Amino acid sequence: MSETSKLNFLNNLLDQVLVIDKSKTICFANLNAKNRFGENILNQNISSIIRDPALLDNIQNSLNDKSSSTIDVETKKPNYQYYKVSVMPGPKNIFNAEETVIIFFKDLTDIIKAQKLKSDFVANVSHELRTPLQSIKMGLETINDGAAKNDKENQKKIMPLIMQQAARMENIVNDLLSLSRIELQEHIRPSDNVVLDEIIKHSVDLHRDLLQKNSITCKIETENKNTEFKGDRNRLTEVFNNLIDNAIKYSEKNTKINILVKTNENNIDVIIKDQGIGIPREHIPKITERFFRVNPEKSKEVGGTGLGLAIVKHIVNQHRGEMDISSEEGKGTQISLNFPKN
Ligand SMILES: Nc1ncnc2c1ncn2[C@@H]1O[C@H](COP(=O)(O)OP(=O)(O)OP(=O)(O)O)[C@@H](O)[C@H]1O
Ligand SMILES: [Mg+2]
Repeated sequence: MSETSKLNFLNNLLDQVLVIDKSKTICFANLNAKNRFGENILNQNISSIIRDPALLDNIQNSLNDKSSSTIDVETKKPNYQYYKVSVMPGPKNIFNAEETVIIFFKDLTDIIKAQKLKSDFVANVSHELRTPLQSIKMGLETINDGAAKNDKENQKKIMPLIMQQAARMENIVNDLLSLSRIELQEHIRPSDNVVLDEIIKHSVDLHRDLLQKNSITCKIETENKNTEFKGDRNRLTEVFNNLIDNAIKYSEKNTKINILVKTNENNIDVIIKDQGIGIPREHIPKITERFFRVNPEKSKEVGGTGLGLAIVKHIVNQHRGEMDISSEEGKGTQISLNFPKN
């Protein structure tokens, strides 16, 4: 048995392992190291695989004086990776050649990415809440000891603005709670029987005033009567409220929204089509991300936090459904949902 084949048991390890000899040539790579760094890394110099100068120093030190060390390595190109790397002299009972070094890579990329996502999320939430909070504070200061202190007329003008901003904060907090609740339950498929076209009709009815105010017509067409399937009524109402709200918010006056419900034995399809402003192609993959808005300035005007479609996506997932978005700038947007009946 060759020396390095004794190391084949490391092939089953999730971490990457490399062994190099005194000329810094790679003489062993476990399966995951080959998967990560390339099939042909054997007999290559370590510096062609690892570019991190501090890690190369540690390897050199280990070769020189048999020292062990652990170091964090972060790479940004070609993609983001984060490792904890342990460097130690190769054990003599495995290698005849004494001057070898074993390098263990613990891949923490997913954990670090998740941490970053979480801290980005906290930063976003704080920012979104701080904006209306600042407006409320300014309004109250003006009334309390500012320009409107003794000016009833002015106070009356400021009050509704304060209330509007407080309502905005309340909406954000409600959406965030909704999002975290649905995330926790996403793996539990709803088991109640619901009739989808009734839910959609109800949701459109809730938007009647807004539709009228914006001179937008909304038509529902149901191709087949039987739209019953296992679902959560309240959550599905939330889905259609969000989608219809978007179709109205991002459309001009005198346009149409068409909702088509199609069913067959196994699936229900719902297609919501508007004639609105559309979404630039490069933004389509991002619009279900939390807090993403194509045009934050426009969102200030029409009101929107960028949480609606994130909620929709999670609810559709919970129903084991799929969502597809197609859109053309200036022409309109089409959101297609597909739910399996069983
Ligand atoms: N039907 C649509 N037409 C054009 N753009 C849309 C449409 N639906 C969504 N968008 C774009 O996608 C972004 C994200 O939508 P989403 O519903 O998640 O957030 P929002 O409507 O801004 O806020 P919220 O739904 O939380 O009130 C919107 O800001 C808008 O830029
Ligand atoms: Mg929305």
